[in-house]
Amino acid sequence: MTTGRPITQPLSEVELTRVRADFPLLARTVRDGRPLVYLDSGATSQKPRVVLDAEREFYERHNAAVHRGAHQLAEEATDAFEGARHRVATFLGADAGEVVFTKNGTEGLNLLAYAFSNAAAPGALDGVDEDWARRLRLGPGDEVVVTEMEHHANLVPWQELCRRTGATLRWVGVTDDGELEDPRAVVGERTKVVALTHVSNVLGTLNDLGPTSPVLAAARAVGALVVVDACQSAPHLDITALTAPDSGVDALVFTGHKTLGPSGVGVLWARRELLEAMPPFLTGGSMIEIVRMEGSTWAPPPAKFEAGVPMAAQAVGLAAGLDYLTDLGLDRVAEHDQELMRHTLQVLSARPWVRVLGPADPARRVGCVAFVVDGVHPHDVGQVLDDSGVAVRTGHHCAWPLHRRLRVPASTRVSFGVYTTPQEIDTFAEALDRVPEIFGMGVSA
Ligand code: ALA
Repeated sequence: MTTGRPITQPLSEVELTRVRADFPLLARTVRDGRPLVYLDSGATSQKPRVVLDAEREFYERHNAAVHRGAHQLAEEATDAFEGARHRVATFLGADAGEVVFTKNGTEGLNLLAYAFSNAAAPGALDGVDEDWARRLRLGPGDEVVVTEMEHHANLVPWQELCRRTGATLRWVGVTDDGELEDPRAVVGERTKVVALTHVSNVLGTLNDLGPTSPVLAAARAVGALVVVDACQSAPHLDITALTAPDSGVDALVFTGHKTLGPSGVGVLWARRELLEAMPPFLTGGSMIEIVRMEGSTWAPPPAKFEAGVPMAAQAVGLAAGLDYLTDLGLDRVAEHDQELMRHTLQVLSARPWVRVLGPADPARRVGCVAFVVDGVHPHDVGQVLDDSGVAVRTGHHCAWPLHRRLRVPASTRVSFGVYTTPQEIDTFAEALDRVPEIFGMGVSA
C-alpha cells in the first residue's frame, strides 16, 4: 500500500461520542422516532457545528462581494475568502495559488475538460510554451484514458471532450474483484490525458497513486497529464502526497459537501504551470486582466478560473470542515474508516445471502461498501433499512458502466463518515436481516 495507510489508533468511543455531539443533525430521529443511522456520507457528509457557525458568521458579520468594493465589508469578505483558500492549500499540502474554487467536484472536472477543448481553438494558446501547447491540444489520433470504475462525473466530461476534439476515449478495465486491470495495455504513445478516481464511490477500491503506481508510471512514460478525482478519498485520507512535486499527478478535484463542508463549493488543485498554460473555462468578471470591445486578456491563476462573484461563505465553511478533519488527525480519521470497513465486511460476510462488490481485503478499500442481495431489488433493500432508520444509497450510484461490468443492475451502498460508529453498523446488520424475512428468501439470517 502506497498512500494513506497509517499505523495508528482509531477514534476511541469517548472521542466518537464527542465528535457526534458536534454534528447537530445526528441527534434527530426519523420514521416514527427511530434514531437516525446515517450511512450515506459517500453521497454527502453531515456538517459539524463549526462549519454551520463559520457560514452564519460570514453572512452575519462580513457578507460582501469579494474582490470588489472599496468598503470595509468587501475587504473582510475578501480576506475571509482568500484565507479559506490558504486553509484548503494547507489541507492539500499545496500552494494557495494552485487552488481554484469550483461549485463542486463535477465542475472541477468539467473545467479541465473544457479548458482542454478550448485549447484547440485558434489563438487560445498564443504565448504558451510549445511543449505545454502540444500537451494541451487534443485532436484525432490522440487518446484520453479513464477507468471503468469512474463516477459519471469523471467519465462524461471526457467523453464530451473527445466528441468535441475528435480524440478517442479508452478505458482501463476492472477485474471481477473490483481492482483496476493493467493500465499498460491502454496507456500508450497517443495518450494525452489519464483521468481516474483515487477511491471508487461504489467499490471503495483505493487505487494505487503512490511512488510505484502502475498507472502513474504508464502516464509518466508518455508525458500524459494525470487528473485525479479525490472526491471519495479527501474525506477519509491524507491526500497531500498527491500534490507533492514528484507525485506524477497534475490535477485533482474534491468536493466540499462530502468533506464536512457546505454544498456549492468544490476544489480544483492543479500545478501552477498547467493552470498558467490552460485557457479558461468560464469567462466574465474577476477572471480578466484587460477588457476592450475587441477582446480581453486573462488574470493569472487562480483568478483566471473563477469567473463571477465566488461562493465566499461556502469556501469559509469548507475551510472550517477541513480544519475539523485535520484537528482530529487525518491518520486517525483513516484508521477509524478502516475499523468501520473491517467491521462492515465482517458482518456482511456472516450473511451468505449478501454479495459484496469490490475487494475482500479491507485494507484495499476506503469509505464505502456496496452489496447486492440476489433476488431482491436494492431499492427494496433500501426501503427495509429506511424503515429501521438506516439511511443508505441505492441504485447505480452514478457509476452505471461499472455496474454493467459487474453484471448487476444496481446495488445498495453503505458509506461512512468520521461520526459513524461500529454500533451503527450493527444496527444496519440487524435491519438488513429483515430482508430475507420480508422477501421470503428461505434463508435464516
Ligand atoms: N457522488 C455521490 C455518491 O457517490 C453523490 O453518492
